[in-house]
Amino acid sequence: MTGLEEIYKEIKSCKNCNLWQYATQTVLGEGPQDAKIMIVGEAPGKEEDRTGRPFVGRAGKLLRDTIGSYLIKKVYITNVLKHRPPNNRKPKKGEIEACSKFLLEEIKILKPKVIIALGSTASKFLTGEEKINVAFEKEYEFMGAKVLVNYHPAAVLRNPRLYDKFKKKIDEACVNL
Ligand code: URA
Repeated sequence: MTGLEEIYKEIKSCKNCNLWQYATQTVLGEGPQDAKIMIVGEAPGKEEDRTGRPFVGRAGKLLRDTIGSYLIKKVYITNVLKHRPPNNRKPKKGEIEACSKFLLEEIKILKPKVIIALGSTASKFLTGEEKINVAFEKEYEFMGAKVLVNYHPAAVLRNPRLYDKFKKKIDEACVNL
């Protein structure tokens, strides 16, 4: 078994918080184990919970279209939480504490050059900065990876004026591919 498969097995049976009770299934990371870029979102939404794949709903389509069908295959996509919070509510502190160990394992195994944190939950976890607008302007380091913070694609859907900045940040990160 590869390192990731072992982690996936653990995630699938994880009951360290209550979210497994409400979710249809776990949503594991997706992408090649030698990916240089890792994208980290917040938690699965409705469509992700239904299909078992990260970023496949409306926000996911925007993300995937922005990266492009060729480059997306070279990127590893995952979330801080692997089970959907009911009604897509924000993850609780205890849920992040319980689940983030799996993200740490994913980073340890993949050793990405660049991590793109999408939205405030991933940004706070990976940079320690509370305000996404502050983190957006900076560069951080986490477990040997460069961390770039970007808006969550769901926020871009709500406020299309953010799209140009969102795309520019994605392009900046994908230069590393
Ligand atoms: N939003 C996220 O943060 N992650 C997903 O996988 C889907 C939507």
